[in-house]
Amino acid sequence: SGSHEFVVVANRLPVDIRTDEAGEITWTTSPGGLVTALAPVMQSQDGAWVGWSGSAEQTLEPFEADGMHLVPVPLNAKEVTEYYEGFSNATLWPLYHDVIVEPEFHRYWWNTYVEVNQRFAEAAAGVAAQHGSVWVQDYQLQLVPEMLRRLRPDVRIGFFDHIPFPPVELFGQLPWRQRVVEGLLGADVIGFQRTGDAANFLRAVRRFTDHGTRGQKVTIGQHWNRPERHVRVGTFPISIDSAKVDALARTEKITQRAAQLRSELGDPDVLMLGVDRLDYTKGIRHRIKAFGELVAEKKVTVPRTALVQVASPSREQVQQYKTLRQEVEVMVGNINGDHGSWGRSAIYYMHHSYPFEEMVALYRAADVMLVTALRDGMNLVAKEYVAARPDLGGALVLSEFAGAADELGQALLVNPHDIEGMKSAMLKAASMEPAEQRRRMRTLRKRVLENDVQSWAEKFLAVLQHMPQRTSHV
Ligand code: G6P
Repeated sequence: SGSHEFVVVANRLPVDIRTDEAGEITWTTSPGGLVTALAPVMQSQDGAWVGWSGSAEQTLEPFEADGMHLVPVPLNAKEVTEYYEGFSNATLWPLYHDVIVEPEFHRYWWNTYVEVNQRFAEAAAGVAAQHGSVWVQDYQLQLVPEMLRRLRPDVRIGFFDHIPFPPVELFGQLPWRQRVVEGLLGADVIGFQRTGDAANFLRAVRRFTDHGTRGQKVTIGQHWNRPERHVRVGTFPISIDSAKVDALARTEKITQRAAQLRSELGDPDVLMLGVDRLDYTKGIRHRIKAFGELVAEKKVTVPRTALVQVASPSREQVQQYKTLRQEVEVMVGNINGDHGSWGRSAIYYMHHSYPFEEMVALYRAADVMLVTALRDGMNLVAKEYVAARPDLGGALVLSEFAGAADELGQALLVNPHDIEGMKSAMLKAASMEPAEQRRRMRTLRKRVLENDVQSWAEKFLAVLQHMPQRTSHV
């Protein structure tokens, strides 16, 4: 066993790694909320983070970054195709997001998923201290808990699913459904975003295994030399580093940049904003359709109203993402072609990612934030927008199919499939009185500032630490 009391296992390392011409490795911390949340725990408990560097054929030795011990797990090109792009993002991702696009089932993808999960489990087993805690993240690594338990029965194992857990009628399509459920049940604590996700998982346990469930507890019966064991299932809605976003949004630099952005966009009366990874789960096409109809029907006028859509590149080798990009770009082109004028577009569409500060300035500049996902585990953009509005301005249009809707009831909730309903909500948001904006935003901000990513991690880890300590190390 290794020496790290606390180990995080995630598909990606929390850093962007570059190798320069001389072969020197440089890294920059990626701004993800997860790493901000876990950094204090990692630093105080000598934590290690096991993950993939993000590029194939790169074999890196473990290294130290920001007080964390980083353990790169190598993937070759075939594994990137079959485990990451294939099974994770063309099988599980669409299956777990309500089959918005058709999931592909391939036995060779599954085999590679098993092999890669085993590699992550072995890497974690190698660095975790006796009786340490290991926290496995997300759908790419659902077999790791069981694999790790076989290697290291002494460690406490947590698992958190960042994306939805589908209803049994959909999950049951997966040829390897029982293996996945058993894989997850290797954990002591399994966390989900919404109560509905936890309920779906418990139903899958009852349907596809013979383990007993009682309330939020699964009992794994005695088997050979293994004693009876309990697994806790719970709901832990993830969040953001709210105080950090709030503080950033209050700075002179950001408020000035927000004003400058508005003037660069021609000082529209109403600035609408969408910020997403370019992913078919996000409802980008539905939102653009609704906006295009509002313009065509003259319910809003260009350039007095403008839509900024930031679509950051994502999973670009996967066919469904290529198709989506084509579709979105044709729609944007049509609307701008019909309604734009020299130097003024109806939609400002960007297919790149921006530094976080620029995003916070955009949030502060936008009158209407559009989060219209068809299905989303949580959606942190909705929470970031709220945290970025210490001025209590702006209105949030939020899909009821995003996990964030459970907590952000003061947003204008929409069904993104209902284009007319979405158009009404967009108009209502665009003309909302400042007093009503403030009233709603105050309630939203209270939720987001009180429930930040630090408290998310604390709550999960508190449950994990209360699970019984196992003494055996076989
Ligand atoms: C979602 C998933 C994460 C994933 C992220 C970015 O939020 O829950 O596990 O890291 O998307 O996707 P990528 O495939 O680039 O890691």
